Amino acid sequence: MGESPRHFTADYVERVTLRDGTRVVLRLLVPEDKALLEAGFARWSPESRYARFLTSKTTLSADELRYLTEVDQEDHFALGALHEARDGTLPVGLGIARFIRLPELHATAEAAIAVADEVQGRGLGKLLFLRLCAAAAERGLERFRCEVLGSNTGMAALIETIAPERTIEVGGGVMSIEMALPNVTPTEPPETIAQEGSMYRMLKAAAQNTIEWTSDALRLWRRND
Ligand SMILES: CC(C)(COP(=O)(O)OP(=O)(O)OC[C@H]1O[C@@H](n2cnc3c(N)ncnc32)[C@H](O)[C@@H]1OP(=O)(O)O)[C@@H](O)C(=O)NCCC(=O)NCCS
Repeated sequence: MGESPRHFTADYVERVTLRDGTRVVLRLLVPEDKALLEAGFARWSPESRYARFLTSKTTLSADELRYLTEVDQEDHFALGALHEARDGTLPVGLGIARFIRLPELHATAEAAIAVADEVQGRGLGKLLFLRLCAAAAERGLERFRCEVLGSNTGMAALIETIAPERTIEVGGGVMSIEMALPNVTPTEPPETIAQEGSMYRMLKAAAQNTIEWTSDALRLWRRND
């Protein structure tokens, strides 16, 4: 049985208009996106930066920028959302979705999505989530895994609501949770998303700031020292 051609390749470009009229272009990240990423990171609010990096750092090092943009788009996949440039204005990075395949578990990857503060709550996170899931499925992945701090009762209740496929405690109150990829097409309209899916519940919980990430989750944004 032959494999169908991939949708998320170097030529993939998708233009969408967010609920507030912001025009956005989605495409895979390229090594030349370093300046865009650097500028986007500097614009993040201290709260978002802390939530994601567990530090208040304001700049990314040359090494981090390389790690985040020089990806093979197979085992380390990164999709970017940009504000469409008009009349020569420089494009502005609005969001990134990425996954990194776990070498020891070929069909599982760690995944993360980040949307710039000024466009949060307008549907971009949902769209990136759908496209990331479809790109992961194209690359033979079956599930995403993430590690959260599950030590407090609020988190335990939240994990129960998310209803992951598998949850294990990896020590120190850290819970590793696995969620099956939802079955979505590469052009799935955001309106049709199954709200009850575990992974979508996780995205919503993250949007509501109820997830406590662990420092291990930083692997997605910066290489472990
Ligand atoms: C998590 C994140 C990517 C979501 O992106 P977003 O563009 O704001 O999300 P969307 O607008 O697509 O909203 C997704 C859902 O969350 C809900 N939501 C978004 N912001 C919300 C808020 N502040 N309060 C309550 N619900 C919210 C939306 O209503 C939507 O649910 P619906 O389908 O029932 O309407 C974004 O908040 C972010 O970057 N957070 C910081 C980084 C992070 O924690 N990432 C974790 C993902 S790995």
